[in-house]
Amino acid sequence: MTPETVMLIGISGGSGSGKTTFARMLNDYLNSTRGEGFSAILAQDHYYIDQSARFKEDGDPSVNFDHPSAIEFPLLSRHLEQLRLKKPVEVPIYDFVTHTRKNETTPFPPRPVVIVDGMLLLSQAIVRPWLDHSIYVDAPESVRYERRLRRDVTERGRTPDGVERQFRAQVKPMHDEFIEPSRRYASLLVDGTRDFAPVIAGLRL
Ligand SMILES: Nc1ncnc2c1ncn2[C@@H]1O[C@H](COP(=O)(O)OP(=O)(O)OP(=O)(O)O)[C@@H](O)[C@H]1O
Ligand SMILES: [Mg+2]
Repeated sequence: MTPETVMLIGISGGSGSGKTTFARMLNDYLNSTRGEGFSAILAQDHYYIDQSARFKEDGDPSVNFDHPSAIEFPLLSRHLEQLRLKKPVEVPIYDFVTHTRKNETTPFPPRPVVIVDGMLLLSQAIVRPWLDHSIYVDAPESVRYERRLRRDVTERGRTPDGVERQFRAQVKPMHDEFIEPSRRYASLLVDGTRDFAPVIAGLRL
């Protein structure tokens, strides 16, 4: 069923700040209070450009996955426009272990609320205009690093050494250059070390 309107809510912030956790909690909250299918999450991570040809080893510094040019933002922007027009989109599928974009896509129908999860969203002038609300989740670098290390090793098949090198060489510099300055575009700042439940229950959407 086509919704009457589509509201786009961007969740941004540094790697390990708690964006995906916040997005999932908000999504669960909306689906349980407004009805199943009321909202869904669209993640920036699906829009990585295929890097398999360039990538040599874990932590290879020649590929910067944290720079905005690693993400196909023009495609994400077009998809946000389509969703706003209540049209379905086909979301790319990206494999983090092989750094490959698959040939298949995932159909994503429009919903009354689409939650967009991505650390560079607010740094992009072609993305910002589509977001009705933009939330920046903020956490100190030490907290973000520890969380990232745990996740990349357990869920993304990375070595602790590769994660450490990538954080120092790319994650931190790109955070400082693109992500941190983009917080000024947020309509709401959220502390990523606190419980998100009261924040979500208090949102006026
Ligand atoms: N408010 C919070 N309090 C305590 N732990 C949290 C909180 N938010 C997130 N975490 C934990 O921190 C880890 C990283 O969170 P999450 O995956 O949401 O970060 P992220 O911002 O999406 O990172 P990335 O950009 O790298 O995907 C998870 O293990 C999660 O359970
Ligand atoms: Mg995440």
